[in-house]
Amino acid sequence: MCGIIGYTGINEAVKKVTQGLEILEYRGYDSVGICASVGGKLEIVKTKGRVSELNKLLANEPIQNDLCAIGHTRWATHGAPSYVNSHPHMVGKTCLVHNGIIENYKEIKSRLENEGVNFVSDTDTEVGCGLINYYYEKTNEPYEAILSASDKMRGSYAFAIMFSDEENTIYAIRQGSPLIIAKGQDGFYLASDLTALIPFTKEYYSLCEGEVVKLAGNKAEIYQKGEPQWKRTDMTYEMAKKGGYDHFMLKEMYEQPKAIENSLSSRIKDGLPDFSVDGMDKSFFEEIKAIHIVACGSAMHAGLVASHLIEKLAFVPTRVYIASEYRYTPPLTIDDTLVVVVSQSGETADSLASLRYAKEKGFKTLGIVNAVETTIAKEADYRAYTYAGPEIAVATTKGYATQVSLMSLFAICLAYNKGKIDTNTAKDLTTCLFSHAPKALGEVLERRDEVKEIAKLIYERDDIFYIGRGIDYQMSQEASLKLKEISYIHSQAYAAGELKHGTISLIECGTPVIAIATEEKLFDKIDSNVKEVRARGAYTILICDGEMENAQECADKVFILPKSSYIGNIFSSLAVAQLIAYEVARLRGCDIDKPKNLAKSVTVE
Ligand code: G6P
Repeated sequence: MCGIIGYTGINEAVKKVTQGLEILEYRGYDSVGICASVGGKLEIVKTKGRVSELNKLLANEPIQNDLCAIGHTRWATHGAPSYVNSHPHMVGKTCLVHNGIIENYKEIKSRLENEGVNFVSDTDTEVGCGLINYYYEKTNEPYEAILSASDKMRGSYAFAIMFSDEENTIYAIRQGSPLIIAKGQDGFYLASDLTALIPFTKEYYSLCEGEVVKLAGNKAEIYQKGEPQWKRTDMTYEMAKKGGYDHFMLKEMYEQPKAIENSLSSRIKDGLPDFSVDGMDKSFFEEIKAIHIVACGSAMHAGLVASHLIEKLAFVPTRVYIASEYRYTPPLTIDDTLVVVVSQSGETADSLASLRYAKEKGFKTLGIVNAVETTIAKEADYRAYTYAGPEIAVATTKGYATQVSLMSLFAICLAYNKGKIDTNTAKDLTTCLFSHAPKALGEVLERRDEVKEIAKLIYERDDIFYIGRGIDYQMSQEASLKLKEISYIHSQAYAAGELKHGTISLIECGTPVIAIATEEKLFDKIDSNVKEVRARGAYTILICDGEMENAQECADKVFILPKSSYIGNIFSSLAVAQLIAYEVARLRGCDIDKPKNLAKSVTVE
């Protein structure tokens, strides 16, 4: 949520910063700006809109001799997208870009206004800038000023700061929002996300909470700690590019079979699930008596599928919580309850707050995270990375698929270690997951043309319903979210049997209802539910297992899933739903990788 990047070094600061901003755009894209240090002066260029707009401005009036710059791409919270509200903000000698929210900004603002400070924007950021400047003018000490200001601010923030009287120098601090610094051959970088730094360097350090860093000349210095402990990433620039696909979302969908294999392979030994690589041994699993899965958005939906499998296989009571609600629920059981926080980015504010809440209450915690070294991964007692690789499209695909695959393996492991399934069953299930899931998903992706035909039938509708039972209901919640977030069609997922208790009144002539039926024992019931809506005029689409009898007669349009298994079907039906969302959004001319109003990494509560 909001992207920050900075560079100080030997050349082309503006070019590097704008290149990084293009990669960071998935974090927010309603306004953008940069500040460059040029000949002892700070120059700011900013605009409402995307990086392409900024590039046009810079092409008309290029900034020359730029050795140091900071940049920002915004997802508006305080104040609508506009020139004045866009970052960088400058007050007195201080200029900065910000990610996060300063919760007590109103109180700070009125104090500073009483001191004669004049604010021009509606943002909390400008107030943070004013506060740092207030202390800077008093002390002339950047470190002191940043720390004193940070002491007074509540909320989450990552700041990249430049002072007009300190040439080619960037200071930064983070509290609750991510910030990475990196060392290149040509100078030092910082960004809110490692992916933005991959074109430039692989050596990075992820700042700890409250650390203040100074980047200048040939030195990166962390106050009171000295030189950072650099690490190396094995991410490549290729991973962060579209690679010939029209959209990142499409590329990431096609990367799913490999990503699923990556998420599972290091956790299977002798055909059995084994999480010892993540520090979770037999006794870890034996002790678990209950599970809370806490997450937001698609990660929460992945938790729903996982909870179904955990209860079905391991008989461990599992509750899924929306992270923004978790803290308002009294902790009913603590002893031997594992709290699993699921997050692709590892930085989602509500998920992080839930993790901290769970730890405070004495729960054992596990973070299931994709982006390595992120806050949730670092703060959880245990962590298991999903290894999906960088995900750029705002709508998650491979992130979700790897969360489901990893948690499915976790469910098998739990069931096995608790003696609920024997070795042969555990091996069979593990094989099904490892071989059927990627295969079935890949086979559906090869049938994209069939899905294009389905998309043509429904893309002009205003409302679409997904229905399913059991695991298909859990999966259909993700299917529906995917569709609405990128196509802007109102869509809802319903438990197939529940639709008639009210919501069926919304079915009109031609309303598309997409039913998912992958479980043999539920075929008849789903068939009846499809008939109920069909009788009321719905245009019905059935996505089903090939074993469903007379499937072709059950609905107006039928997609038969490739022959697979119970577990394989979870992933193949997911792929159909992802493709439906993608093709519908494409036909509607939507901005698929950057849907309106959204951001990928939501670092505000
Ligand atoms: C945002 C994204 C969703 C994502 C959710 C949770 O809303 O648009 O795609 O599922 O955040 O993100 P996380 O990084 O915690 O998985």
